[in-house]
Amino acid sequence: MAAAVSAITERIPPPAHGEAHVWLAWTERFAATEILDYCRTLLAQDELEKWRRFHFERDRQLYLVAHAMVRQVLAAYLAIAPERLQFVANRYGRPELVREPGMPDLRFNLSHAPGLAALVVTRSADCGIDVEARRELGDLAAMAGQVLTAAERDYLWRLPDTERNWAFLKLWTLKEAYIKAVGKGLSLALHEFGFALGADISIRFQTGSADAAGEWQFAQRFPGPDHVLALALRSGDGPTCVYREWAPQRRGGSA
Ligand SMILES: CC(C)(COP(=O)(O)OP(=O)(O)OC[C@H]1O[C@@H](n2cnc3c(N)ncnc32)[C@H](O)[C@@H]1OP(=O)(O)O)[C@@H](O)C(=O)NCCC(=O)NCCS
Repeated sequence: MAAAVSAITERIPPPAHGEAHVWLAWTERFAATEILDYCRTLLAQDELEKWRRFHFERDRQLYLVAHAMVRQVLAAYLAIAPERLQFVANRYGRPELVREPGMPDLRFNLSHAPGLAALVVTRSADCGIDVEARRELGDLAAMAGQVLTAAERDYLWRLPDTERNWAFLKLWTLKEAYIKAVGKGLSLALHEFGFALGADISIRFQTGSADAAGEWQFAQRFPGPDHVLALALRSGDGPTCVYREWAPQRRGGSA
């Protein structure tokens, strides 16, 4: 999937209503000490404390680059210093921007998987994003039994063995994107809503959901051969999605 690489040095126009901007960071491209040192300068104290707690360097780097991207992109939309941004999490852990008077109502969601961080930003619309890296999942039947609907399981088991693991990850990203957009985390039962993969992806609720399928739009992309990305947006009229790659950019020059 081709996406323009954007270096951020100044204000960029925030998404319009009905638009979703998706930013991708290939985190392992930014391993140089000076880049990571620069990313660290953008993070707040609580983020740095979390960053320090990761055991493996690869996880530390992923977290650092992902959160530097969040701060730098949102700050460029708002034309303020990245360090000035404040976040508040709901009771399920979903972070939102703390709005200062006059700030546009930007919503965002972040996801990271080995090698890739993805950020979606909208103008007030609920949004969720999930990325997963290709990997063997082990006992697929047990996992499918816990998180898929009967129709999703039927679909999976009609596929050749060799395709099943990847198809599970595709369904999984859509489910995660939806629960992240709703913001209630795993308090939502994953087997109570499902997806049919195809050109037009829509959600199907099992009986009893208070949510309306028609309010939601979904998209699935493959940013590289080993990553799958899903997007969930509460927007009835088919939003425009713009995909861009992000690289750390020191104000006044490259990092
Ligand atoms: C937290 C959760 C919402 C997403 O977790 P995840 O898929 O592991 O992680 P992602 O990388 O996609 O997203 C993490 C980011 O989502 C955001 N987030 C955290 N809680 C959130 C919530 N309730 N709703 C929306 N976004 C949330 C944060 O920005 C977080 O980033 P941070 O931890 O670096 O601050 C939750 O669904 C979860 O724990 N899922 C279980 C994951 C799992 O079992 N995976 C098995 C894969 S087959």
